[in-house]
Amino acid sequence: MDRRNFIKVCGAGAAAIAAGVHTQLVYAGTVKDFPKVKLVDADGKPLKASSLSKEEAYVFGYPFVGTPAFLIALPSAAPAGAALKTESGEEYSFPGGVGGNKNIVAYLAVCTHQLAHPEKKGSVIAYTAGNSETAGRAAAITCCSHNSAFDPADGGRVITGKAPQPLPGIRLEHDAASDEIYATGMYGADMLEDFFKKFKGNLNKEFGIGKYREAPAGTVQAVLLSKYSADADRC
Ligand code: FES
Repeated sequence: MDRRNFIKVCGAGAAAIAAGVHTQLVYAGTVKDFPKVKLVDADGKPLKASSLSKEEAYVFGYPFVGTPAFLIALPSAAPAGAALKTESGEEYSFPGGVGGNKNIVAYLAVCTHQLAHPEKKGSVIAYTAGNSETAGRAAAITCCSHNSAFDPADGGRVITGKAPQPLPGIRLEHDAASDEIYATGMYGADMLEDFFKKFKGNLNKEFGIGKYREAPAGTVQAVLLSKYSADADRC
């Protein structure tokens, strides 16, 4: 990804909020806009923020068809403002959760250590609602490949392990009138090209030659990790 494409967002979005669309704002740091897509279920019906399964990760392909992301309704609000830093030193702040309860967050489901991610055959990265041995607490995203854990209520910050930087965030919008959820961009670490380079062969097999690099158009299906992957490790 071309770093020159990253832009700074400084308090934009007031007009959208006035219109009833609550956008996650990143007040400083690295943000990249991607085409806005509506999150829908396996039948193509819009996911409603107030109807999401609580504390279960949904998987959706964003910002590209082949890049898995987690959508999670946390047990409580995820307040904005945490100061975060990428491995290369870029600073940014967590925009917080969206939805009526401000508890809905999304992250790239790719571990920042060695890029482990959910696959159809299984996943070593998952949201762990109960107590995690790795994280030493509940409500964490854990990667059992080498035991890293991330805090989804705090911008994907590393709790423990070899992961060198927070999980990249997926910027969300919530339409208060329709209760629908949209993905609009990414913030944080820039690791998509590394991911494509490492897994190109597998991604071509899973999604079709070159399809993994296509952007979803209009809508994107989000399915529970328990349905997306045959098995998910918790640690
Ligand atoms: S790939 Fe996740 S901890 Fe190593």
